Amino acid sequence: MTLLPDNDKYAIHHGDCIPHMLDEMPPQCVDFSVFSPPFPSLFAYTSKPEDIGNSEDLRGEAKIHLSYFYAGLRRVLKPGRAVVVHVMQIPRLKRSGEVGMHDYRGINIRIGERAGLVYEYDWSVRKNPQAQAIRTKSRELQFSGLESDRARQRGALPDYLIKFRAPGENKVAVDSKGEVSRNEWIDWAECTWGDIKETDTLNVRSAKSEEDTKHICPLQLGVIDRLVRLYSNPGELVFSPFAGIGSEGYISLQRGRRFYGCEIKPEYHAQAMKNLAAAERTQAANSKTLFDHQEAVA
Ligand SMILES: C[S@@+](CC[C@H](N)C(=O)[O-])C[C@H]1O[C@@H](n2cnc3c(N)ncnc32)[C@H](O)[C@@H]1O
Repeated sequence: MTLLPDNDKYAIHHGDCIPHMLDEMPPQCVDFSVFSPPFPSLFAYTSKPEDIGNSEDLRGEAKIHLSYFYAGLRRVLKPGRAVVVHVMQIPRLKRSGEVGMHDYRGINIRIGERAGLVYEYDWSVRKNPQAQAIRTKSRELQFSGLESDRARQRGALPDYLIKFRAPGENKVAVDSKGEVSRNEWIDWAECTWGDIKETDTLNVRSAKSEEDTKHICPLQLGVIDRLVRLYSNPGELVFSPFAGIGSEGYISLQRGRRFYGCEIKPEYHAQAMKNLAAAERTQAANSKTLFDHQEAVA
C-alpha cells in the first residue's frame, strides 16, 4: 500500500486522523511528524464528536481519545524517527468551577510514552506577556491582579515542543548537507526559542465559517521551518495528523519534502489544499536556485 503516488508531492485526507492512522495508512511510512493537537475542552473546530476539541473532560474522555491517537501515530512512524508535538498548558475554566492549570504537556508526554514512543526533550517557545494578557484577559497577568493580590500572579504561558522518537534503529541518517549550520545550531540548541515571531503564520481569514467558535491558532512558520530542517532529509515524507490550514505542509513543500496530512474540518481542508498548491508552485519556481545551492554546499 502506498500513501502518495511517486510523482505526487502532497495529499490531505479529509476526515478523522485516528482510524486513518490505525487502519488505513501503511505502517512505518512517515519520516517526520510535526503538529499541534487541538486543545480539549478549549477550542472546538467542528461539532463532530471525533474533533478532539470537543472532548470535554481532560481527565477522562480526552485521554481516551489521545491514547488511540498516539497508538496510531506510533504505528505510522518509521523506527528511530522523530515527532514533535506543539502544546501549551491549559488554564482550567472558571465557568466549570475549576481553578489552576491542566498539565496538557505532561498528559501528552505520558500518553505518548504509554503508546511506546520515547520522550527525549522539549523546547519552550517564548510568548510576549503583554500580548498574552491582552488576548486572553488572564487576571493572573494583569496589573490589577498585581496591585490587588499577588498570590495568584504568574508569568506568560510558553509553547512547548515535545520531541519523541519511535523506538528502533533509524535506517536512514538525517544527515543532508546545507540544512542546519553550526551557527544556527548554537542558537537552536538553546532550551528556549526566544526569537520566534508570534505573528509569522499562514493567513487564516479565508478559513472562517459560522461553525467556528475560536480561531485556528496556526503554528508559527519559523518553528516548523527549524524542525523540518532538523529532523528530515529533502524528499522525505512529513506528516501532520491535524493539518489545519496546512502550515506544516506549506513549509515542508517549500523545503523540498513531501507532505501528508489529515484534517476533519471541510473549510480548513480546502484552505490547506490551496496553501499547499501555492507552496508547490513557489518551490518549483525556486528549485533551480535550491539545486544550485545544494551543489555549492555538497
Ligand atoms: C490547532 S489546529 C492545527 C493548526 C495547524 N497546525 C496549522 O497551523 O494550520 C488543530 C486542527 O485539528 C483538527 N482536528 C480536530 N480533531 C481532528 C481529528 N480527529 N482528525 C483530524 N483533524 C482534527 C481541527 O479541525 C483543527 O484544524
